[in-house]
Amino acid sequence: MQQQKPLYIRRASQLVTLADSSNAPLRGKAMERLSIIENGSVWVEDGTIRAAGPDEEIAAKYQTRMNEAEVIDASGRLVTPGLVDPHTHLVYAGSRENEFEKRLRGATYMEIMAAGGGIHATTAATREASIEQLISESTRRLDLFLQQGVTTVEAKSGYGLSLEHELKQLEAAKELDRSHVVDVVSTFMGAHAVPAAYRERPEVFVDQVVTEMIPEVARRKLAEFNDVFCERGVFTPEQSRRILEAGKKYGLAPKIHADEIEPYGGAELAAEVGAVSADHLLRASKTGIQAMAEAGVVAVLLPGTAFFLMAEAADGRNMIDAGVPVALSTDCNPGSSPTVSLSLIMNLGCLKMGMTPAEVLTATTINAAHAIRRGHEIGSIEEGKKADLVLYDVPDYRSLQYAYGVNHARTVIKSGCVAVRDGFPVHSRKAVS
Ligand code: NIG
Ligand code: FE
Repeated sequence: MQQQKPLYIRRASQLVTLADSSNAPLRGKAMERLSIIENGSVWVEDGTIRAAGPDEEIAAKYQTRMNEAEVIDASGRLVTPGLVDPHTHLVYAGSRENEFEKRLRGATYMEIMAAGGGIHATTAATREASIEQLISESTRRLDLFLQQGVTTVEAKSGYGLSLEHELKQLEAAKELDRSHVVDVVSTFMGAHAVPAAYRERPEVFVDQVVTEMIPEVARRKLAEFNDVFCERGVFTPEQSRRILEAGKKYGLAPKIHADEIEPYGGAELAAEVGAVSADHLLRASKTGIQAMAEAGVVAVLLPGTAFFLMAEAADGRNMIDAGVPVALSTDCNPGSSPTVSLSLIMNLGCLKMGMTPAEVLTATTINAAHAIRRGHEIGSIEEGKKADLVLYDVPDYRSLQYAYGVNHARTVIKSGCVAVRDGFPVHSRKAVS
């Protein structure tokens, strides 16, 4: 591979470092601790951040090597760590505009699913699709993520619902991680819905997830996490516990879609099984929130899903005040949140969940990294971390949430390479080694 020149990103109006947050997600008041350096600079080499600090400091340190580097002038620009989306259903085929219209005419999300649509409709389309088609449709979504400054995404399976098709989805995610510059972290979610054929005997399907799918996914090393849709009419808390405990035995860390439609004990279960994150939580109980705070479970909140399902968003404000570490995500999927706009999610975090702009930025960088166990690698601008950085068209971090519906990312650096330059994608595929 061609040797990369060092990158010297100079004189950002605000360099949001989020320093000293690699060991654990930020909580409570610390969620506003952005550790901003004004007139800040970063030296990047071999894909890694070598130094970050005030420009005078970095200039003095690298004085003798200055002419080796490509200099990127960041004056007048905000610079943040690469954004992290910790909850997506990235790999799928097709779309569901028909259901969108049905919902606008009064049908509910769960009614559509119970009638064989919803997740079942996307499962049918995804089973039909070849792996090449899944990769191609998902690559398009990754390109759009990257253009907005998202440099790592989590991706769940769960539109296969059989061993063969779950493996196909996870293989597609693995290939996307290999080929695209955006890093893709995989989660197995065979327990996303009970397939129609098992409606009368869901335990048989749960058995399959536990005894066939989880062991095979683990054997092939296709996922790091194991997720389940714990909701009335989908998987009960008992079934969810069994699935999550089975995953743990095979080294898959638990995650859970919890208390989205009604309070169902999902937040409590997340704390009990030691989940890395519990996601959605629109209707989580007070005791569930408390239990998550005590167990250190990250709440991954998805205000775009509430917006799109015309529901009231999760109470992010209350969760932060209760000491729960909060992250935000798009939930990118064709049914409940067909968006790749983490930028819109940031606005909704402020306007619909009462979070401050600083909390929102923490929730989309370091806390999102911790929600996928990458806090030691990405999510902050510190020596030794992966050089994932975003330069924006605005000077102040609050503009990201304030000027809504706009992509402010201008230059995106992924693993030390310029992937988007001045708004134009220049390098989105990984070099084949
Ligand atoms: O996170 N809630 C369950 N799963 C997805 C939606 C999947 C779909 O509708 O296709 C979610 O919202
Ligand atoms: Fe989801």
